[in-house]
Amino acid sequence: MILGVNIDHVATLRNARGGVEPSVLDAARICEKCGASSITTHLREDRRHIKDEDVDAISKFIKTDLNLEMAVTDEMLDIALKLKPHSVCLVPEKRQEVTTEGGLDVAGQQDKMNEFVGKLVNAGIIVSMFIDPDKKQVEASKKCGAQFIEMHTGSYANAFGTDKEEEEFLKLKTAAKYAQELGLKVNAGHGLNYTNVKRMHEIEGLYELNIGHSIISRAIFVGLEQAVIEMRDLIK
Ligand code: PXP
Repeated sequence: MILGVNIDHVATLRNARGGVEPSVLDAARICEKCGASSITTHLREDRRHIKDEDVDAISKFIKTDLNLEMAVTDEMLDIALKLKPHSVCLVPEKRQEVTTEGGLDVAGQQDKMNEFVGKLVNAGIIVSMFIDPDKKQVEASKKCGAQFIEMHTGSYANAFGTDKEEEEFLKLKTAAKYAQELGLKVNAGHGLNYTNVKRMHEIEGLYELNIGHSIISRAIFVGLEQAVIEMRDLIK
């Protein structure tokens, strides 16, 4: 398994005061120096953390891959087609949410997704669908031509250490196996931390974990280098 680091919350901190500190680009560089295989940024519709100029700078100056998380909108499609990031992860987006709640409903809007994903894939961009670990959504992701799914691990993370943990974990394991049988590559992320991440090793064939909040939080106490190295060592 490899580690993608989501650096949105470096921008959250910067935006708390305006100005340029802490630098999102420096954070990206430190993450890749410490073993991150990709850098993820979520350019939200309301630009609450990452801004357009951050994405531009990161895409120009990082040595690893930029994974652009974005909603299924015309505005984001234009940006992706101009920027040509290595990969795009399509996510649902609601204005009032604190973070991405639940996976994208691909099955419920199959035609729209087929067209949207087709435009990205034709431009040479790898597409990943951020979905709940659900058979119907896996099938719909395959159908629309995406090469990857990213399983939403939020329910597993919330259930960790409770009676529901096994049930939620099994959903991830089953969906990953099914997706791989269909020829999809499988990533996972959301809510993973230094404890609950360890069970990801029990899911065969997982490609990449995308982790943000727990790493940036730990960085406050131990520094970003160490926070990334510790997570990298837990998942490799
Ligand atoms: N993957 C996706 C698609 C996300 O939307 C997020 C949160 O922005 C993450 C991974 C990372 O989640 P967390 O910050 O909880 O590690």
